[in-house]
Amino acid sequence: MTGLFTDEYARAQDAADPLGAFRDEFLIPGHGGSEQAYFCGNSLGLQPRGARAHVEEVLHKWATEAVEGHFTGQAQWMPYHELVREPLAAVVGALPAEVVAMNSLTVNLHLMMVSFYQPTIERTAILIEAGAFPSDRYAVESQLKYRGLPPQHTLVEIEADEPDGTISMQAIERAIGEQGQRLALILWPGVQYRTGQAFDLREITRLGHAAGCIVGFDLAHAVGNLPLQLHDSGADFATWCHYKYMNSGPGAVAGCFVHERHARTERPRFAGWWGNNQQQRFRMGPDFDPTPGADGWQLSNPPILGLAPLRAALDQFQRAGMPALRARSLRLTGYLEALIDARLSEVLQIATPRDPERRGAQLSLRVRGGRERGRALFEFLGTQGIVGDWREPDVIRISPAPLYNTHTDVLRFVRAAQDWAEAA
Ligand SMILES: Cc1ncc(COP(=O)(O)O)c(C=O)c1O
Repeated sequence: MTGLFTDEYARAQDAADPLGAFRDEFLIPGHGGSEQAYFCGNSLGLQPRGARAHVEEVLHKWATEAVEGHFTGQAQWMPYHELVREPLAAVVGALPAEVVAMNSLTVNLHLMMVSFYQPTIERTAILIEAGAFPSDRYAVESQLKYRGLPPQHTLVEIEADEPDGTISMQAIERAIGEQGQRLALILWPGVQYRTGQAFDLREITRLGHAAGCIVGFDLAHAVGNLPLQLHDSGADFATWCHYKYMNSGPGAVAGCFVHERHARTERPRFAGWWGNNQQQRFRMGPDFDPTPGADGWQLSNPPILGLAPLRAALDQFQRAGMPALRARSLRLTGYLEALIDARLSEVLQIATPRDPERRGAQLSLRVRGGRERGRALFEFLGTQGIVGDWREPDVIRISPAPLYNTHTDVLRFVRAAQDWAEAA
């Protein structure tokens, strides 16, 4: 165990790593004369160096070609969102026509629920997790109210049934078994933001469909973190953002998946001109004829400046490949876990599942001794250039992102926490 704890070991692991060179493709914020150990990719991923060139290309085109930029050169604005389609489909395991980059996550959740939450006399309820990300809960609750349905009767929330606030598959199965006949929709996270727990999308979809429900996922914390097989999972829809593990910048344009079986759905939707059949779009006719596939849910012409960094980020994912990234992620997070167990078990309790199959990159670390102690440690880490994030009342989230974090970063975090504990 002492061996694991040396700079030589960490450096050797990093040097031997086939994806190690990707770190140099990122701009890493400084700390004093060195770099931060940045573990906040679960919140905002770092900037790929390639992002600037794509943004500048758009600015240049705008400056020199103005409206013509829609139709000229390689990265024309008119079909600009097509540039990200195939690499994005590869990241989430979808067919190209099943994905589109558009809007932001919560907007996409609403658009999906407008189409896929269709209450009937028998089925009015939506199933979510208790402790869902607030925006998801607000979106679901407001959809229920919008349909004139009182959330106190139609919002079903599954409570955590495991000691660290995680939810077992048995609890999900039980809830679907008990409530299935009244459920219209199940909306579930791919990875839970607070605990870092990863869920089996295929199994949740199977259970939901067997009970006659629509199943959709919020993949904010899963995309770019875990290999996903959205098409094969059978999920009806999914939405996600690109500013976390996808490194596409603050407020980046989000993603949306609609399974191909809904490509030509007659379901109602909120429509806009960019979702209209592309051959007809500029005829400016009065009738909406949706483009088949996920594209048919687009409302507006896309924010080209917002999409530009996603091109750089997807290029990296394409070159690295999700299986290799996941392998590196398992090594990094496993290393973090081993060092915490060996050196910090009196200070930190790992609330994220221990089984690597039930988590992604993130470990949620409950600081023993409560909030005051937790805040003191969190602030101390900040002074050392170690950036995680804080979740009330006593959790520090540390997420080694496999594209840029290293074993050396992990060792630095553990040593700093140990120094703090020894001095306290
Ligand atoms: C799980 C989850 N859902 C929804 C959101 C809201 O995303 P947006 O502000 O892009 O709509 C976030 C943002 O962090 C999130 O983590």
